[in-house]
Amino acid sequence: MKGRNPAILLLAGTFALPALADDNDREMRNLAIKSGCFICHAVDAGAKGPEGLNPVGPPWTAVAARYKYDKDAQKNLTDAVMGGTSPYNRHWKDQASGIAMPPNGVAISETDAKRLVAWILGLAK
Ligand code: HEC
Repeated sequence: MKGRNPAILLLAGTFALPALADDNDREMRNLAIKSGCFICHAVDAGAKGPEGLNPVGPPWTAVAARYKYDKDAQKNLTDAVMGGTSPYNRHWKDQASGIAMPPNGVAISETDAKRLVAWILGLAK
């Protein structure tokens, strides 16, 4: 047979997707490091912060699980990341030791915040 073997193309296609997902995963984790999110957050529940204390903010897998069926989550969470949250309306009273998230607009652009929130929401099992 001349030309490319379709089976090889099929295989290449199957492996390309997880590779892309891995790249995005790495990129989003780096973005979170660069933007200071991991000073207060961990990706997985049960992770400990400095000195073995509970992280200041909620674990992102818990965030993903809570807002899984909330169609406004992408927008609301981007607003929360950019503008901060209110200590008088705590969403994570039982799962975060911090009482509010400060605005992150100085550390991250809205475009990047949107991408990060989309990635966080995608952590839902
Ligand atoms: C100084 C600590 C701190 C930093 C830095 C921080 N967060 Fe938070 N974050 C918190 C706290 C505390 C909460 C819980 C607020 C609450 O209970 O309402 C929170 C909540 C959240 C939530 C859930 C909001 C909601 O309404 O349920 C998301 C999403 C989030 N943070 C993403 C981020 C991202 C992305 C970054 C980095 C750009 C970041 N956080 C940086 C402390 C922080």
